[in-house]
Amino acid sequence: MLQRPRRNRKSEVIREMVKETYLSASNLILPLIITEGDNKKIEVASMPGVYRLSIDHLLREVESCLNLGLKAFDLFPNIDEALKDKYATISYHEECLYLRAIRAIKARFPEACVITDVAMDPYSSDGHDGIVENGEILNDETLEVLGKMALAHARSGADIIAPSDMMDGRVGYIRKMLDDNGFTNISIMSYSAKYASAFYGPFRDALDSAPKFGDKKTYQMNPANQREALIEAALDEQEGADFLMVKPALAYLDVIKLVNDHSNLPVAAYNVSGEYAMVKAAAQKGWLDERRTITEILTSIRRAGASAILTYHAKEVLENRWI
Ligand code: PBG
Repeated sequence: MLQRPRRNRKSEVIREMVKETYLSASNLILPLIITEGDNKKIEVASMPGVYRLSIDHLLREVESCLNLGLKAFDLFPNIDEALKDKYATISYHEECLYLRAIRAIKARFPEACVITDVAMDPYSSDGHDGIVENGEILNDETLEVLGKMALAHARSGADIIAPSDMMDGRVGYIRKMLDDNGFTNISIMSYSAKYASAFYGPFRDALDSAPKFGDKKTYQMNPANQREALIEAALDEQEGADFLMVKPALAYLDVIKLVNDHSNLPVAAYNVSGEYAMVKAAAQKGWLDERRTITEILTSIRRAGASAILTYHAKEVLENRWI
């Protein structure tokens, strides 16, 4: 035998020497869930280790992450049911919980990179990502709401705007809205290929944002499709996106690779709530080694081609020095 690949695996030093994929704090983005009130830190039942945080706790959490070298955060709000309406009006109101949270983080920690989620569902009484009329999700009317929301986020200090709604044309609409208002430096991280996935379940519990009727299949993508992701990615690139995101991550590693092979923009991947919950549940039962499972998952997502990974594991992997 001339080729014995095992020679390159014979010691730790050599294994590290030929290692192809690296994970570091700079690749990670931590999603954080915000709730109204003071001194509130409520664990999400289906996501052990993930909390709904009031703004005071949010600031403490951001500070401890910054000390670990984790500098990018994606914010999501848990909004009082009484404040929701058909048009997500509260989302761009000056005193909205979400906008207060952005301002609070940027005032205390200007070096933190704040990524904001643009979509109607956390603020919508219908629990959908668009305006609902006669059971239909309206596209172009929704763009106006998304534009107002994105502008409010920019005015509050967001560094990156991340539209997660899957309406057609939203990246271009938001880009123009930002540019027309002087925010040419605000980036857009587009959820380009976002699938209608069962893996969002725990997140919808965390936000109380589940659709009140039907599902999201008329706007989120069919899990059976790969080529369609390229159509979405190409449109977002033409419309001015700075990052292309694939979501979920683990069941869609092929899509991450495909998008990365076809575009020169950096690709982000969202290791979603259901992926997190599966690992935590199995680890709690002693069925999986948590450290090895988590680092293997994150490495696989990087290997597939993602530059940035949004993951609820971001803080624990650094705290425990797993990476
Ligand atoms: C919707 C949105 C979803 C997530 C973030 N924003 C999915 C959905 O409810 O359709 C999911 C994140 C996760 O599961 O971790 N705007």
